[in-house]
This record gives sequence, structure tokens and C-alpha cells, in this order.
Amino acid sequence: MRMDKLLANMGFGTRKDVKKLMKSGSVHVNGDVVKEGKLHVDTDQDMVTVYGEIVKYKPFIYLMLNKPQGVISATEDAQHETVIDLLLFEHEMYEPFPVGRLDKDTEGLLLITNDGQFLHSLMSPKKHVTKTYVATVRGEVTNTDIDLFKQGVTLDDGYVTKPADLFIQKQGDVSEIELTITEGKYHQVKRMFEAVDKKVLTLKRTKIGKLTLDPELELGTYRELTEAEVDLLLPK
Ligand code: URA
Repeated sequence: MRMDKLLANMGFGTRKDVKKLMKSGSVHVNGDVVKEGKLHVDTDQDMVTVYGEIVKYKPFIYLMLNKPQGVISATEDAQHETVIDLLLFEHEMYEPFPVGRLDKDTEGLLLITNDGQFLHSLMSPKKHVTKTYVATVRGEVTNTDIDLFKQGVTLDDGYVTKPADLFIQKQGDVSEIELTITEGKYHQVKRMFEAVDKKVLTLKRTKIGKLTLDPELELGTYRELTEAEVDLLLPK
């Protein structure tokens, strides 16, 4: 890997910051000063130090984003801002991708990683990873809906959903609910409510498996997962 990429990945700032740092003579590889960003290092073999401190390369990043509305869950898009556009250079350099999709108008917990295996273990239908959403729904959500969601409802394409846990938080012409599902069909939550003649007005994902969206994260901001949080998500 190129030295400048490694240092940027390790949080030493932007490409420009890294260039300056290297020019200053503070970066050593196996004891020799290195000033050229394009020099390649072997991240397993070579010892890189900055100001005398060893820099340990980490190959993967795991980010928790509080996705705002209006941004799409993709790595690139010709017209719209993507969740990757919200990242700092030091994270974008890992070339990460979103773990699954939230609709453009859905907010909340979205994981972003460059670890394909991690993505697979969360997305595979066989793993039944739960996803929890809160929503406001036009129409009065009732105990009948709780039972129907428990049994499985038939979506517009004939698919019958797996059992889901519905909680009514506020009942009325506009209801507030929490719903936990174990699958991720296209527009699943919206279509489940359509199946019982109601309309999702706002939707936010709050949980994936045992991981809860950090309430400190403002919309559009993100942070790295802690090791404990990554462990929470990995299958036993
Ligand atoms: N279900 C939906 O309808 N939309 C989402 O973004 C996520 C789940």
C-alpha cells in the first residue's frame, strides 16, 4: 500500500496534511526517513513510525451513520448525494460501502464498511438479523395489525412476510409504532403497512441486531464502531 494512503487511512489527516507530515521528516519506515508518499510499504512486514510511534495498519473500518433524508444508500450516483459523500477523506479512502439500503426518505442507522464478510454476515437472509424501525403511520394501527404482522402479511407482489414484532407507541389518525423485522425486502416496512391499508409517513431505523443507533449522533454524522459493537454484530 502507498505510504500516503496508509497514513491518511490511519487518521493523519487529508492528502495535503500527509504530504506535509512526510516532508517534515517525521515518518520512518524500518528506521529510514521516508518523504515520498508514493513509496509502497508491506503492511505486514514493514515497521512504520510517525514521530517515533509505531503506526499499526487496520484493514477494515466499520462506521455507524445516522442517515438523513435526501441521501441515497449507494457508493456513487450521478444526481444525488450518497452516504459515502458524507464521509471524511480519511474514511472514504477505505472505499467502503453501505450495508444494505435505506430508502432516500428513510433516516437512521446505516452501517458502512469495507469488510465484505461482515456485510455478508449481516445481509444474508439465512442469518435473520433483526432490524428495528420507528415510524409514523397514517391510519389507526390496532391490535389486529399486531396479530397480522405476527402471522405475516401478503405484500403487493404476493410475498408473505416473516413474523414481525409490532408495538404501538401512540394510537390515533396518525399512529406511532416500532416494528422489528428479520428480512429486508424492497420498501418492506412501507409495503407491510400498505398491506393493512395504512401509509408510512416517516421512517427511521433505530437498531440492527443488538446494535442501537447512538443517540448522540446528529443526522448526517457518523462515528466508528467500537470493537465491542463490531463483536455484537458478528455471529457467534
Ligand atoms: N423499509 C422501507 O420501507 N424502507 C426502508 O428504507 C427500510 C425498510
